[in-house]
Amino acid sequence: MNQKFTHMLQKCNTEFEHKSLSENLGHPDRFKDFSVKTDGLLMDLSRTALSAESLKLMLGVLKDMGVEDARERLFAGEKINFTENRPALHMAMRCDEVLAGLDADMVGVVNQTKQRLIEFASAFAAGHLPGEPAQPVRHIIHIGIGGSVLGPRLLIEALGKDSGLKVHFLSSIDAHLRSKLLASLDPAETAVIVATKSFTTGETLLHASRVLQWMEQSLGRDAALQRTFAVSGNQQAVDAFGVSSQNTLYLPDWVGGRYSIWSAVSLSAAAVMGEGGFTDFLAGAAAMDRHFQSAALHENLPVMMAVAGIWHRNVCAYPAHAVIPYDYRLRSLPAYLQQLVMESNGKSIDRQGEAVNYATSAVLFGEPGTDAQHSLFQMFHQGTDIVPLSFIAAIRPDHEDHEAHAGLLANMLAQATALATGTAGLGDEVTNIHKRMPGERPSEVILLDQLTPFSLGQLLALYEHKVFVESVAWDINPFDQFGVELGKVVAKNIQPALEDESQGVPANYGLNSLLDYIRSKR
Ligand code: F6P
Repeated sequence: MNQKFTHMLQKCNTEFEHKSLSENLGHPDRFKDFSVKTDGLLMDLSRTALSAESLKLMLGVLKDMGVEDARERLFAGEKINFTENRPALHMAMRCDEVLAGLDADMVGVVNQTKQRLIEFASAFAAGHLPGEPAQPVRHIIHIGIGGSVLGPRLLIEALGKDSGLKVHFLSSIDAHLRSKLLASLDPAETAVIVATKSFTTGETLLHASRVLQWMEQSLGRDAALQRTFAVSGNQQAVDAFGVSSQNTLYLPDWVGGRYSIWSAVSLSAAAVMGEGGFTDFLAGAAAMDRHFQSAALHENLPVMMAVAGIWHRNVCAYPAHAVIPYDYRLRSLPAYLQQLVMESNGKSIDRQGEAVNYATSAVLFGEPGTDAQHSLFQMFHQGTDIVPLSFIAAIRPDHEDHEAHAGLLANMLAQATALATGTAGLGDEVTNIHKRMPGERPSEVILLDQLTPFSLGQLLALYEHKVFVESVAWDINPFDQFGVELGKVVAKNIQPALEDESQGVPANYGLNSLLDYIRSKR
């Protein structure tokens, strides 16, 4: 158990003087002291529950707990993912200094894969198979799940350029989307990317074999395989599936699935991000890596964001966190961050193998503003649980409707204000109690000068490092995900009973009545 952390929590609960959010906000230097920026990205923590004293306390605690040392070990490639006995070096995919620390063979492999990724992406963007100008490609089916799909989907929605190339995603094992999609596509104009680090993921392999079958039926096996590409770390399984090494891009085992957006997993996205788009995206993340490594703790964006997160989760005991991008292009950001945050820090056993006695990851959810205002925000303003929020927006839009953009930003700032101050804080003496807003509901505001590949790279790397700092405070390993395994095993035992009525499931599953009901309705 992290004794320093538990001691800090005890101190906060017994001796520490907590200031109200409005009291904090009223301080004349609040914005100066609670906003941090780097290279066109600003984070304003003025409306969080942190006071000057609590910030100082938390930074001291993080320092004592060795956050700087942990950061060094992360970037040095130590095996900090100790449960899987490997480093977490996804930063090497984007940051030359980190890459230079790897052995020469691996540097060669990473550079060569990156070069092939760019070549493949340019060929797709130009409308044909790599090295085969006469073989048209107008559609890509990207098959993958979790980290093997969420990143590319976010990138394409946020930064994809209009072009003759359309990317379609297949993830969940649910076949409804696949049947519709295949009915609408011509195999002779389609390329398939099977993105799976392990090449053992059930959903992905089922889709891949069905899609290959569909292609084979009209083109024959060789031509179908010529149009099938794999991004994986499991060459043996890729070979067994039939994809050639020429069509395979390598994913090293030290790049975790939810950290793989920086790798060849983003091939489909790189194809529609325009020339230089993917490289700029990597450069933005590398800039955040350097900032995280070098900025003093009180000026360090990931550290400051983690301090607010820990304070809200552990001291204020808030159970959830909402991410509300006021930018429709970032509509899949909440889903992307859900995996990053909850799969990384949704743990309850510490590095010593003991159960923690403090809360770890909050529930993360969200959807874009202003839509979210018409669904989630009632609860945010007047619900019994307080949910801290991240508001995210770009200052300069990529359209000419300045009135609409002013409206968008005004709505975001209005929500941050109203949540913090409530009706009374705004001088509104509301007599009807049902119409009162209590306020004291924290949020952070993140502003990008503009949404570009570079700034999105910065933003995602910011969240990655924030998650890492939190994991240090909580003394947990953020890089494994054993929690997703049990369900997969149980599903394998249940599926035969759904395919064949003579099969049963183990009695201790407690599922027999429910299965009988399902069978009676078929
Ligand atoms: O959900 C578990 C998980 O292992 C994620 O971490 C990963 O992103 C996803 O499954 C997909 O895994 P793979 O790329 O190996 O198919």
